[in-house]
Amino acid sequence: MAFEFIAEQLAQQKLAHRLRQRQCIAEQQGAKLFYQNKEYLNFSSNDYLGLNQHPEINDAFHEGIRKFGASSCSSSLVTGFSYAHQVLENTVCEWLNKPRCLLFNSGFSANHGVLHALATDQTQFWLDKLSHASLIDGAFSGKAKVKRFLHNNYDQLEQLLMQKKLPNNLIVSEGVFSMDGDRADVNALQNIAKKYDSWLYLDDAHSLGVIGDKGQGSTSINPDIDIVMATFGKAVATSGAFIACNEELHDFLINFSRHYIYSTAMSPANAWATNKSIEIIQREHWRREKIAELSALFSSTLDPEIELIPTSSSINAIVIGDELKALEIAQKLKAKGIWLTAIRPPTVPNGTSRLRVTISASHNLQDIKSLAENINKVIH
Ligand SMILES: Cc1ncc(COP(=O)(O)O)c(C=O)c1O
Repeated sequence: MAFEFIAEQLAQQKLAHRLRQRQCIAEQQGAKLFYQNKEYLNFSSNDYLGLNQHPEINDAFHEGIRKFGASSCSSSLVTGFSYAHQVLENTVCEWLNKPRCLLFNSGFSANHGVLHALATDQTQFWLDKLSHASLIDGAFSGKAKVKRFLHNNYDQLEQLLMQKKLPNNLIVSEGVFSMDGDRADVNALQNIAKKYDSWLYLDDAHSLGVIGDKGQGSTSINPDIDIVMATFGKAVATSGAFIACNEELHDFLINFSRHYIYSTAMSPANAWATNKSIEIIQREHWRREKIAELSALFSSTLDPEIELIPTSSSINAIVIGDELKALEIAQKLKAKGIWLTAIRPPTVPNGTSRLRVTISASHNLQDIKSLAENINKVIH
């Protein structure tokens, strides 16, 4: 029978308690989420700055629809690239102080699209072990050689680079790691890149908006990062993504990145709303300050025996280890009105199932106290 593996693999997932299913959320309002007529405090959202449903962004969306339409109606190289896209690209360039910016429909397609375009047989990618699936898939999608180094282990990275054999070397890391919330040392990475005549590619999905005095992410720490990718689907609270880079790479991607060329351009209304969101992110510092304040309260209220990965981002990971135990804890918290998804393999390595708590600017002190106290009770 054709495609027998489909039923087989689903059955295996079920047996291993790993069958993934979606839950249809009725509404998300600030820190609250509504599901099956019940209200929950949401600690699983990537809306780090609490900008979803911001009236100015919603208005910009409506204005964008009126001015440019909901759809771009074609790919960027045909007629899909509009004034709204140009304005957004310019805004990102100014914000990050980079010469060029190129928009993609998602962070996944940006990562995949760029790495695939650079993956010649004379290219070697050096990926942090905890890189996102889109980076891994992009790196392996072409003819390039791929080597993964231990998470944030730059001694090992240097040892590997000393033996590099190919002329085009790209170090790939995340700025803030998605499932751990810890950070790469971007200065160290950029120095290593320079020392070994390589480039640095930084996925700033979880840094943008949250890190830097104006939320510029890792470029606020090191302005020389060769290629920066970030998604608009997290702190920016719209959707899509960008690549910030030099002029030559920008032109190369327009000509050779299949994800860019053969895909309908981002909705111009979305681009217009994203531009507004970035304006708010740059001026409303209190949102970043609040995340820092609430994160400090969370770690100080949590039982000291509970292991929290140190972070200076919105992501607070509590490693539980066993998958079923992590699921059970998440289930118990849900019964108490706290929505906290258990993250399990293959998203994280075996034996490191965890609770991934995201603290956002829309939470308040009481939300965080209630979360920490409930986690203390449920874990013990
Ligand atoms: C580190 C990282 N890179 C890329 C992506 C993909 O971004 P998007 O959701 O816009 O496809 C994500 C999010 O899922 C992510 O966590």
